[in-house]
Amino acid sequence: MNNKLVRFGVSLEGELLRRFDAFIGAEGYDNRSQAIAGLIRKEFVSDSFAHGGPVAGAVTLVYDHHKREVVNKLMDIQHDHGGIIISSQHVHLDHDNCLEIVAVKGPGAKVKALADALKSVKGVKHATLSVTCSGK
Ligand code: NI
Repeated sequence: MNNKLVRFGVSLEGELLRRFDAFIGAEGYDNRSQAIAGLIRKEFVSDSFAHGGPVAGAVTLVYDHHKREVVNKLMDIQHDHGGIIISSQHVHLDHDNCLEIVAVKGPGAKVKALADALKSVKGVKHATLSVTCSGK
């Protein structure tokens, strides 16, 4: 199938549709079609990640750079996962704290392994992994 828009009918219970319309209004979608497409893509990303398929994303870390060895350990881990790291950005949040954003692209399992390795380093205060589609 090509990327032309295709119309199709959807039947929903009235109450479910009322809640959906309230939801898409709160989320800022322009219309139901846009919202449905967004939810479908969200599920596809989740499914791809769960089954080790291709994803892109960002690992966000906050850590105290004074903590012994934390900077070196984070650097070692990133060098060991170089194949899936696209770029990283380091921000000095304040005198003690650094924010690091590591952009990644690759198989979901490898992305998760990198995020898990980074967040478990002693001295990392908080870490998140945000997963999105690889563009396909
Ligand atoms: Ni810093």
